[in-house]
Amino acid sequence: MMFDIKNLSKSFGGVAAVNDVSFQINEGELFGVIGPNGAGKTTLFNLITGFLKADSGEISYFGTNVVGKRPNQLVQKGIVRTFQSTNLFLGNTVLENVVMGSYLTHKPSILKNIFISTKAQEQSALEYAEEVIEFVGMSAYKDLVVDNLPYGHKRLIGIAIALACKPKVLLLDEPAAGMVEDETKELINIIKKVHQTGVTVVLIEHDMKMVMNLCEKITVVEFGKKIAYGTPQEVRQDEEVIRAYLGVES
Ligand SMILES: Nc1ncnc2c1ncn2[C@@H]1O[C@H](COP(=O)(O)OP(=O)(O)OP(=O)(O)O)[C@@H](O)[C@H]1O
Ligand SMILES: [Mg+2]
Repeated sequence: MMFDIKNLSKSFGGVAAVNDVSFQINEGELFGVIGPNGAGKTTLFNLITGFLKADSGEISYFGTNVVGKRPNQLVQKGIVRTFQSTNLFLGNTVLENVVMGSYLTHKPSILKNIFISTKAQEQSALEYAEEVIEFVGMSAYKDLVVDNLPYGHKRLIGIAIALACKPKVLLLDEPAAGMVEDETKELINIIKKVHQTGVTVVLIEHDMKMVMNLCEKITVVEFGKKIAYGTPQEVRQDEEVIRAYLGVES
């Protein structure tokens, strides 16, 4: 098992954003997290990736509790995320973004990168960045400054930056948000390809069809609580899920 999340909670003032949530993710799984706006999905990602510290509960990653670890420490352990909104290094090219992304997320060694990185190391970082850019289909754009690229391209660059960090598990926070249909199709292909290379994928997505088609297991959250967990088939028929999505009183 990759993740064993037990009784995880995080509150902001009076708001229980994540409330006593437990679930497991197996290595190699394509895992979906769905739920209405404000349900606590992004907070869950922030907890798993060390951007927030849980108030209580445990996040066991390959048997070790990682609550309290910082994002860069977790990146080095293979836990890498993308953000709900794009945050690229403006004024820089696609290639520069991907190279810098991998350096910045490996923060503890950034000094090492600056001061004692050898030409060979720089070269290999550059080559890997180019490989990753090719993987997301952005090679034709690699020398363009990111600022004026279409939104969908920016989102793919966000994924490329994450991939450059060599994830064991890639957590994608609404990667299809703001994408047009063709871009979403391309994104789905990329997610499938990433998964096929053996990377575990955790996907937050509002596009129900996409989650149902892609994911092997899904957990559903509402008001910080897990309300369902199972295969797409199981989740689709779950009464709590139907109630949450249709707003029908139970
Ligand atoms: N840093 C924060 N400070 C205060 N409240 C927060 C913070 N982050 C999240 N919240 C609150 O926690 C709850 C869960 O928010 P979260 O962003 O995790 O939801 P979400 O499921 O990702 O929603 P969306 O689908 O809109 O992205 C919301 O009520 C939100 O207002
Ligand atoms: Mg969110």
